[in-house]
Amino acid sequence: MAPIPATLIPGDGIGPEIMQSVIAVFEAMGSPFAWETAPAGLGAIATHGDPLPASTLDSIRRTKLALKGPLTTPVGGGFKSVNVELRREFELFANMRPATTLIPGGRYDDIDITLVRENLDGFYAAFEHYMPVGDDHKAVAFSAGFNTRAGCRRIIRHAFEYAVANGRKKVTVVHKANILKALTGIFLDVGREMAPEYEGRVAMDDRIVDACAMQLVLNPWQFDVIVTTNLFGDILSDLIAGLIGGLGLAPGANIGANAAIFEAVHGSAPDIAGRGVANPAALLLASCLMLDHAGLHDQGDRLRGAIRHAFVSDGVRSRDLGGNAGTKEVTEAIVRRLG
Ligand code: NAI
Repeated sequence: MAPIPATLIPGDGIGPEIMQSVIAVFEAMGSPFAWETAPAGLGAIATHGDPLPASTLDSIRRTKLALKGPLTTPVGGGFKSVNVELRREFELFANMRPATTLIPGGRYDDIDITLVRENLDGFYAAFEHYMPVGDDHKAVAFSAGFNTRAGCRRIIRHAFEYAVANGRKKVTVVHKANILKALTGIFLDVGREMAPEYEGRVAMDDRIVDACAMQLVLNPWQFDVIVTTNLFGDILSDLIAGLIGGLGLAPGANIGANAAIFEAVHGSAPDIAGRGVANPAALLLASCLMLDHAGLHDQGDRLRGAIRHAFVSDGVRSRDLGGNAGTKEVTEAIVRRLG
């Protein structure tokens, strides 16, 4: 098979270290992808004077497929989030964040939840500004988020279709329609409108986001597929990552009509960057989702199996999982299991 062109963005902080691990593992597997390395994030400001250079956008336009390391976003001022820009540029409307137990014996066993997060609207698309009062230029802060009926239909349809294609039994629509009656009421309305189309195949229920957070901790096994708005999805996906051992094991996929970008749920982890201790598993699991997306399920399963064996059968543990193995040791253990 001809190699599949794919853009590879190493990213900031621990990004280059964990991306090196992916490159080594794919070399060992016989990579189906022909990588085009492209810069983005803080590092790209230094080299290209732009956190999202035109050459990177061109590469993704060409390949329609990318694996992305985490990108640092300044808090408060500074440049806009490159992640949000990428999602907007390529209309990556669905953020798929599966949380599946890989290492048994943790706080929770047998977790298998996929969170489907609306990726373009809500408060992440909000117009934000400050209003001055007296000599305080930032006396009042405004944010005007929005959800569109078309956007709600697209993401909730995606969640139901994902459930059907993957043999899932239930979609839970998560909202805050008791307080944000318009902003998230529209999301719940669309869920209720669409549910009858899937009757007998996929059940639908709904939860208010705060109750959902508590129930995810008390009894996560009641959840199967969760679909929710942008901000709630961002928060709940970190919560479900915690159920399976933390951010080091949580992959994500950003899916659009014309491109797909795969990444770890975690960020650039500046506190441990450059120390060789980051867990590469989340980015490797994201690359498994990328293999699945390219129709290469066997290779995705093979890599998932090697990661599982390295952690479970060989007992290799990075620091975030309570062990001492560095990025290199984890990578070598996975490569050995591929052999
Ligand atoms: P973070 O996810 O980078 O780190 C949170 C904690 O988890 C830290 O203690 C970190 O050391 C640990 N951690 C994360 N990934 C790990 C790994 N692979 N192995 C071991 N430990 C790991 O979140 P934080 O600190 O809030 O954000 C740092 C930067 O990353 C910010 O600039 C933020 O905007 C950005 N960010 C980028 C994302 C992306 O590019 N998709 C997603 C989330 C945050």
